[in-house]
Amino acid sequence: MSALKILVIPGSLRTGSLNAKLAAVAAQELVRQGADVTRISLADFPLPIYDGDLQAKSGVPKNAVNLKRMVSAHHGVLIVTPEYNSSVPALVKNTIDWMSRVQDQHEARGEVFRDRAFAIAAASGNRLGGTRALAALRLILTACHATVIPNQLALSFAEHAYDDMDQLKHHADVDAMQAMTRQLIDFSQHMM
Ligand SMILES: Cc1cc2nc3c(=O)[nH]c(=O)nc-3n(C[C@H](O)[C@H](O)[C@H](O)COP(=O)(O)O)c2cc1C
Repeated sequence: MSALKILVIPGSLRTGSLNAKLAAVAAQELVRQGADVTRISLADFPLPIYDGDLQAKSGVPKNAVNLKRMVSAHHGVLIVTPEYNSSVPALVKNTIDWMSRVQDQHEARGEVFRDRAFAIAAASGNRLGGTRALAALRLILTACHATVIPNQLALSFAEHAYDDMDQLKHHADVDAMQAMTRQLIDFSQHMM
């Protein structure tokens, strides 16, 4: 059987992003568990804010098509999102909105969400750890008919959650990371 391929997408472009750090830890853990991991930055897929007139005039931007094809080339996807004003950042929502408009030949629109497992994680500076962003992201992905695995990771007090090597330093966070990544691999294998 070919190696299980997992795509990791951090939902922040910020230098020193706590979510990009969490995405890096998750990628390491997925590799440790045997997955073939690609970690991208959405900075490499800049997109305008979704506008139906723009789509009607120019079609779906190439970066949305490329990103959708990148997702299609993987068996599972992990999105690591910041929480902005109790929800997902515009970057994450806009990326999903554009991707949901891509329709490759011989495909139904939105097939990219239906055919693979998604996992979600968040890091934030407060006690809730981005749980409201996770609830919003789960709703959005589910509305796109994605299978979102039950386990998720909300990293609380994220400025203090990493050691000097940018690894998670609290056992509970390490356990939650392992449970989430293991379940993503299990679900992705079943959906292959
Ligand atoms: C516009 C804005 C809104 C925010 N709202 C929330 C919020 O609702 N809940 C929360 O936990 N943190 C909130 N934060 C703080 C972010 O979680 C924090 O800046 C986090 O470090 C951003 O993720 P990053 O480090 O990956 O860039 C907000 C930050 C910004 C810029």
